[in-house]
Formats: sequence, structure tokens, C-alpha cells
Amino acid sequence: MPIKINGSPVPLPSDPRVSLLDLLREDLHLSGTKVGCNQGACGACTVLVDGERIVSCLALAVQYDGREITTIEGLTENGVLHPLQAAFVEHDGFQCGYCTPGQICSAIGMAAEIARGIPSHVTGNLSGDSIALDRDELRERMSGNLCRCGAHNGIVDAILNVFADGPSQFRQAGTPEAAQ
Ligand code: FES
Ligand code: FES
Repeated sequence: MPIKINGSPVPLPSDPRVSLLDLLREDLHLSGTKVGCNQGACGACTVLVDGERIVSCLALAVQYDGREITTIEGLTENGVLHPLQAAFVEHDGFQCGYCTPGQICSAIGMAAEIARGIPSHVTGNLSGDSIALDRDELRERMSGNLCRCGAHNGIVDAILNVFADGPSQFRQAGTPEAAQ
């Protein structure tokens, strides 16, 4: 069974040692997904697998037989940016942009984890009906995505702007009161 990447079926590589990251970048030329450390420590290579975030440098492509992979290229629909992409622009969430695709994919996966009620190390109330996405919660959950430029304040503002009310309730990018 092929892997589906951004909605299109792609044959599995014949060499089982090929990482998902190398399949994306070297074979399919989807260079939006970045190579940083290549050892699972920086988050630059984060993609979504059936909506869950993974670091693609530590994943073998053949493991994802029949699964749906979404990369940064797959978030834009008909030339329209995903609300989180637009919010990164609005809030200066990047400088060089190298970490940005991983940050955005990771944040989308993170918001889905909160919606499923998965707590983090800093979640205070484990018996509540929902988990609030405040700055501490966000920083903890995004700690696997490093930004060498130090654009973290803009990154946090952009993510809060879109996901503070939950992933299914996208805010209009650019509403400053949402970033508190
Ligand atoms: S390149 Fe995969 S985590 Fe750094
Ligand atoms: S914007 Fe340069 S590494 Fe994050």
C-alpha cells in the first residue's frame, strides 16, 4: 500500500533504510520540511501523520505504509494559507524561517493533542473537562521545536492567536487580544 503525502499516493522506497525525511526532501523534492540535527532534537523536520506530529528524521518511510502524511506544503489550500501560516506572518513568528515549517506542523499536532485531553508536564488540573492553552502550557508543549533565531515570542503569539480557543475554532489571524 502506498504512503499518502499531502493527499497523493506515493510508492514506498525500495530501500527500507530511507527515512521519511529523506523520502520527502530527496525523492519527492518537498523541501519545506527541514533538516536540522537529524537526530530528533530540534523539531525542524516535524510533519503530521494522520494528524499526529512526529520528527521525520527518526522515522523510516516504510513504517508509514498506508498512512496519511501532511507536510507544510499540504497545509495551503488553493493558494490560501492555513490560518496558522497567516498568523506567523502577522505576528513576526519567524526570522530566517528555517524552523517555521516544523513549528507550524508541530503546533497543529499539539492543538489536536489538547483537544483530545492529553496533559503535559505543566497541566495543573488533570481532572478538568478541558485544558487551557496558556503561555506556559504552550511553551512546554512546543519545547521540542527550537528556533535558532530566537523568534519564540512571535511564535507563541501566533499559535495562541489561532489555537487559544481550540483547534476547531480558528480565530481570524491578526486579532491582538487573542495573544494574551
Ligand atoms: S532534524 Fe529531525 S529533529 Fe532535528
Ligand atoms: S526563524 Fe530562524 S531558526 Fe527559527
